[in-house]
Amino acid sequence: MAVQWEQLYAERCDGLNASGIREILKVSGGPNFISLAGGLPAPELFPVDEVRRACELVLENAPEQALQYGATEGYEPLRAFISARLARLWNIRSTPDEVLITSGSQQALDLVGRLFINPGDAVVVEDPSYVAALQAFISYQARFLVAPTDDDGVRTDALEELLAREVVKFIYLVPTFQNPSGRTLSLPRRQHLLELSERYGVPIIEDDPYSELRYEGQAIPPLKALDPDGRVIYLGTFSKILDPGMRLGWIVAARPVLDKLVLAKQPADLHTGMFQQMVTFEVVRAGFLEPHVQRLIPVYRERRDALLAALARHFPDGEVTWTRPQGGLFVWATLPPDCHALDFFREAAQEDVSFVPGESFHPRGDVHNTLRLNFSNAAPHKLEDAVARLARAFSKVERGKRRTRQYHEPLAII
Ligand SMILES: Cc1ncc(COP(=O)(O)O)c(C=O)c1O
Repeated sequence: MAVQWEQLYAERCDGLNASGIREILKVSGGPNFISLAGGLPAPELFPVDEVRRACELVLENAPEQALQYGATEGYEPLRAFISARLARLWNIRSTPDEVLITSGSQQALDLVGRLFINPGDAVVVEDPSYVAALQAFISYQARFLVAPTDDDGVRTDALEELLAREVVKFIYLVPTFQNPSGRTLSLPRRQHLLELSERYGVPIIEDDPYSELRYEGQAIPPLKALDPDGRVIYLGTFSKILDPGMRLGWIVAARPVLDKLVLAKQPADLHTGMFQQMVTFEVVRAGFLEPHVQRLIPVYRERRDALLAALARHFPDGEVTWTRPQGGLFVWATLPPDCHALDFFREAAQEDVSFVPGESFHPRGDVHNTLRLNFSNAAPHKLEDAVARLARAFSKVERGKRRTRQYHEPLAII
């Protein structure tokens, strides 16, 4: 008898659909193709020599430890390094044993879902939100309470109404240079949010991969730095400031919560690879990161400026609007209401250029005219070329088309 696979899958995987967009992205990768889709750092800035040297050093000095099983909590010197660095950078107070090393912050999102979400539990998310976080929470059958955002980030007045109405497990936010919108939560709203968290006893999950990538303006402290009593669970990562292929992130949380997260991580992968933890520690231990981030910033600033200038040049009439992020990797654009970003996406693929249609970032999947543009992975002249192609594609989009099919295709896209 044939295995009826479809009948065997657990309900928690019902919301995880393969995406037509991913399929298109797979086929359209020729030499002339320019992708503004993924959130990929610039590979020419990867610290290849430093990693090579560190690999040799680790294998020379401590091969038994590097290739052996390790503690679930992570490599002790790396935990101490992260704790000290967060104190130095942002005045985030933690002890090394309040730091858990994760396999990227994507795993941290999964662990948070695993630890807190029962089927049907309410979780507050922003509209739009980071799509892979939504997916992680969907796989634990979360119910989303959706808080609107504006140019200052999530609207805490609306969030307050949600908290007054429903019992909520946690609030998930990317407060700084958000993926996908590039927006940053203002300081007064950060303070309001922490007050709400205290009033309603609801924890905040602060996902913060981008804070260090600021290209202009005054730094705003992470929520975790404003949190005196451990109500914020802070997620960080080396992905955007060093090398995402290493898959190294971290969670900072009060000790009792961290102990539980450690237990949740054990069945997932026992621990994050010792080798990459030790190699990364070797790379960063003597102060490599600060000058490295200072090298990234002007390159990404130039790319952001190139993308914004090209958008202004090729979409001059105000029909299409976009955010002007002070940091991070993304610009978020809004098309006229009679335009569907998926139609635009298909026309763009014909012009050998891609972006991510915004639909999957909207937790209800109900907004069709937004899209995310990445600027970190292409040189300025390519960004100009990409936007010229986008403008050509846009002129071909059929407007006001009626749809017979409802699209909601969550994307496993970074
Ligand atoms: C907001 C946000 N959270 C988490 C991640 C996942 O990062 P990591 O590579 O550390 O798993 C990303 C990656 O783009 C992101 O933008």
